[in-house]
Amino acid sequence: MPTIHYILKDGSTRSVEAKPGASVMETAIRHNIRGIDAECGGSCSCATCHVYVLEADLPRLPPPDDMEDELLDGTASARAPNSRLSCQITVTLELDGLTVSVPETQV
Ligand code: FES
Repeated sequence: MPTIHYILKDGSTRSVEAKPGASVMETAIRHNIRGIDAECGGSCSCATCHVYVLEADLPRLPPPDDMEDELLDGTASARAPNSRLSCQITVTLELDGLTVSVPETQV
């Protein structure tokens, strides 16, 4: 199973095994990763699953669609070029080793 690395607000890293087909947000919730709130449950309407993707990993991801792009403008922590909504990133075997950072705040 692919491993996803989450860098937490305190600088520590949690590395967890993810089920292919689950989202990076669902994987975080399943493993109690603090700092990913996901208030809308993954329907791309809350922006509280914001993460910063490791810059080196960005080429491995498809770009955000229009709805994700629009929501990223309303995140609580500042949007950055590597900002993504973790509910919109589907885990695949090819994403093994993906690293994301949890932002300072989600609300
Ligand atoms: S969980 Fe709400 S936008 Fe991702």
